[in-house]
Amino acid sequence: MEQARQSKLKRDISSEWFHALVASALEGIVIMDDKGRILDVNPAAEKIFGYRSEQVIGYTVSEKLIPPSKRKAHENGLGSFLTTGEKKNIGCRVETIAMRADLSEFPAELEVISISPETSQVFIAYIRDISEQKQAEQDRLQYAMNIKKTLLQTILAVSRTVDIRDPYTAGHQRRVAHLAASIARELDLSEERIEGIFLGALIHDIGKIAVPSEILTRPGQLQPEDIDYLKIHSQKGYDILKPVNFPWPVAEIALQHHEHLDGSGYPQGLRGEDILLEAHIVSVADIVESLTAHRPYRPAYPLNEALVFIKKNADKLYGRDIVEACIQLFKSGYHINAIDMDELNWLASLSG
Ligand SMILES: [Fe+2]
Repeated sequence: MEQARQSKLKRDISSEWFHALVASALEGIVIMDDKGRILDVNPAAEKIFGYRSEQVIGYTVSEKLIPPSKRKAHENGLGSFLTTGEKKNIGCRVETIAMRADLSEFPAELEVISISPETSQVFIAYIRDISEQKQAEQDRLQYAMNIKKTLLQTILAVSRTVDIRDPYTAGHQRRVAHLAASIARELDLSEERIEGIFLGALIHDIGKIAVPSEILTRPGQLQPEDIDYLKIHSQKGYDILKPVNFPWPVAEIALQHHEHLDGSGYPQGLRGEDILLEAHIVSVADIVESLTAHRPYRPAYPLNEALVFIKKNADKLYGRDIVEACIQLFKSGYHINAIDMDELNWLASLSG
C-alpha cells in the first residue's frame, strides 16, 4: 500500500517535492502538455525568456518561446512523437534557437524528456541560454584568425625582402608556395600540412639574404664558384628560421628544398624517405616554377618541357607521387601565372 502511494507520488508532477525541485533548479525548466501548451515554467526559465510565468502558462511553446523560423520543425517533431512514439531529439541535448519575450532570438541548449503520469503525457524541457558561450567561441575564432593573418602578412613581408635582394627571381617564392600547396592538396594532405607547406615555401629561399648581392644580381651564366656560394642559402635559411617556434617544419623546408631522392642534392645529400615530404613537394614546385620563369641568362622554358623534365626524373630526383600530382594539377587547368599573389585568402583560392 505504502509502496503504491510512494510510486504515485513519484509520478505526480503536482507534488510538492517536484515543485521544489523545479523552482530551485539553475537551469530553465518548461513543462508542457501533449499539445505543446505550457503548464509551468521555473524562475530560471522566467529569467532566460524575460516572461513571468503567468504570461506564458496556457500558451503553446511554439507561439511564445520558439522563433517563427523553428516553429514548423517543433510542431512536426511533437506530432511525430505523439503519433509514432519515435523519440527523435527526445532525451538528447541539442543546440537550437529560442525566442525571448522581446522577440529577440538566442542560441540555447535544450533537452526534452517525456514523462507519462497516469493522466496524460507531459514534456519537461531543460533549457540553457548559451549566448555568452557562443560569443566567447566566436571571439576566440576571430582572435585565432587575426593571429593567423598577421603571421601570414609577416611571412609575406619577410618573403619580399628576398625579392629585393634577388630581383631576378621576384615573386618566385610566392608562386612556389601556391604551386606546392596545390600539389599537397592534390596529394590529399591534411589542411594543417598544406598550411605548413605554403608558409614554408613562402620563405624557402630566405637564406639568400646571406649571399652577396653581386652574385644574385650578376647577369649571365653563374660561375661554378658562384653556384657553390649560392648553395649556402639552404643552410642559412635553416639557421634563420630554426629559432622560430613554428607549428610546421618551416626551417626544415628551407634546409631540404634542394635535396634529391637519389642523394645528389644539397646540403646534406639526403636520400629517399630521409627527405621530409613537405620539403620534397616544395622542391618539385621550385624546379617547375624556376624552369618556366625567365632568367637573365636564359629564356623561360615552356611549361610542357618543365613537366617532361620532372617526369623524366621521377624516382630519380623527385618522388613519383609528387611528380604525378603536379602534372595532374596542370592537366586540370592550374595556371602558374594566374595567381593573385597578395590575396590573403589563399586557402579559399586553393580550394576554389
Ligand atoms: Fe632555393
